[in-house]
Amino acid sequence: MPIETALNIEFADRLKELPPYLFVEIDKAKRQARAQGRDIIDLGVGDPDTPTFPHIIETMKTAIADPANHRYAFDAGLPALRTEIAVWFKGRFGVDLNPDTEIYPLIGSKEGLAHLPLGIINPKDKVILTDPAYPAYRPTITFAGGKITNLPLKESHGFLPDLKKLAEIKDAKFMYINYPNNPTSATANLEFYKELVALAKEKGIILISDMAYSEIYFDGEKPPSILEVDGAKDIAIEFHSFSKTYNMTGWRIGWACGNPKLVAALAKVKSNFDSGIFQAIQVAGITALRTKPEELNDLRSMYEERRDCLINGLRSLGWKIPPPKAAFYVWGRLPKGFNSSMETAAAFLEKANIVVTPGVGFGPAGEGFVRMTITMPTERLTEAVNRLSKIL
Ligand code: MLT
Repeated sequence: MPIETALNIEFADRLKELPPYLFVEIDKAKRQARAQGRDIIDLGVGDPDTPTFPHIIETMKTAIADPANHRYAFDAGLPALRTEIAVWFKGRFGVDLNPDTEIYPLIGSKEGLAHLPLGIINPKDKVILTDPAYPAYRPTITFAGGKITNLPLKESHGFLPDLKKLAEIKDAKFMYINYPNNPTSATANLEFYKELVALAKEKGIILISDMAYSEIYFDGEKPPSILEVDGAKDIAIEFHSFSKTYNMTGWRIGWACGNPKLVAALAKVKSNFDSGIFQAIQVAGITALRTKPEELNDLRSMYEERRDCLINGLRSLGWKIPPPKAAFYVWGRLPKGFNSSMETAAAFLEKANIVVTPGVGFGPAGEGFVRMTITMPTERLTEAVNRLSKIL
């Protein structure tokens, strides 16, 4: 008898409550379709298709050969990395951060976003989740025993949370915000952050800002950090990522910064779960942060060209979607004739061999939308439009 049958292994209740992770499921569907020999255009997961910048790889080659980098990288990692992050942050946002108390490197920002709630919420604490939202936020609240209150992001409100509605929510412990936003690609300006910080302070809500897409912006409009608001550090922590900025999704490196107490809570949780970021990757991270601005401009121009290619192509089919100002997601209402986001995604895959993400996968308010990424060359996006012209 197999051992799992003998022991009658059952998943924990907290795991049973979780739906399958959206992007793993999409990846499975894509692999199955490819295994059937189909030529799939993947507009599903936001994973840059161009390689990590060569200067970062060169640093990594040397760092990986250095035995000093082969041992545990406990705790807050290399002081030189934290110092470099502080320099970068000051240059980009004009905000001073103490590298010893206000910055903590992470094995990817997703890891930190998922671990922090374990350090700050108690069972039954109320957590505000904007809806739709990046799917990684929801499970961690469930794991920590928190209770979710959804705050819908409406198109009529620029996909920003309605602060009047937020003011009506009582006794919330913390709230995730994410601009440039995944999945809507909406951006927040400093005025919005000022009002949000003022309200959160009044109500005693901790703000967890996910800024993974800070450097993917268009038309020269740089998204601000919430930490630019005076006094934001009293209640806010922000998560940053190397993944999308330097094409380093697979490397797993990011950081948290802001309120020292929140940083300390995260550090304590993490010290019990992991043993730091592979030090060679931290060394490569220092090089990444020194990337020449022109290289990032080129990256943004590439995405801008792709954005225009897809948006204009879809418009020529009568599917009008506002062009995103940042991030690399095109968030569109369902095309005419389609009734649900799941039905649309299934039809695109079946009839056009195109993977898109159903909006409902990001939360109930995502129903009625699909998300398409522009992490594909323009030729493939044009091909996607051609295929869609046959089914729309
Ligand atoms: C997405 O497609 O939403 C992202 O690539 C997922 C992630 O950043 O983990």
